[in-house]
Amino acid sequence: MIEIPDDLHEACYPISWLLGRWEGVGLGDYPTIEAFRFGQEVEFTYLPGKPFLSYSSKSWILDDDGNLVRPAARETGYWRPQADGEIEVLLSHPTGFVEIYIGQVEPAKIEMATRGVLKTEGAKDYRTGHRLYGLVKGTLMYVYEMSAMGHELTPHLSAELKRVTGASEAQG
Ligand code: HEM
Repeated sequence: MIEIPDDLHEACYPISWLLGRWEGVGLGDYPTIEAFRFGQEVEFTYLPGKPFLSYSSKSWILDDDGNLVRPAARETGYWRPQADGEIEVLLSHPTGFVEIYIGQVEPAKIEMATRGVLKTEGAKDYRTGHRLYGLVKGTLMYVYEMSAMGHELTPHLSAELKRVTGASEAQG
């Protein structure tokens, strides 16, 4: 049963299953790099009466024993549910990218693809992204594919995150 805070904007009800703080581990790879393991913390918060969720993600490279090796990717943004089950997601990355995703929301699944990516002068050759998030038995799972470094859409990340705080503590 997913709790919905009283003061959450109605537009956010279909994605209220994301609210809270999540932690877990994942696997990363790409044709141009060595495979790696990572730890990740993700947080979705809301503001009373506002029709979006705020989002942030932090990650760390892990060694084979699960020890932290070094900080890795971070991203922050806003998830904006629209009419007819559509969603717009704006993300900003310290590696020099900003991107907008357009996707579809289902009861425990969100699938989205970039509508646009802007890059700073020195940023790597990243063109498009595709993300699939799902809530499976209380675990937030996702896979991320990207088109980068001259490759077509190819898997970069997958992870399983466990909820560590719930929606009632998720006011931003
Ligand atoms: C949990 C999140 C992520 C982790 C842990 C992660 C980790 C890594 C690692 C370890 C590399 C190898 C090179 C390096 O050490 O920098 C890499 C490369 C790369 N990542 Fe990620 N990444 C994440 C998310 C992303 C996202 C969201 C994007 C795009 C917006 C992205 C785009 C790239 C690109 C373009 C490369 C370059 C590949 C190359 O140089 O051949 N990554 N990532």
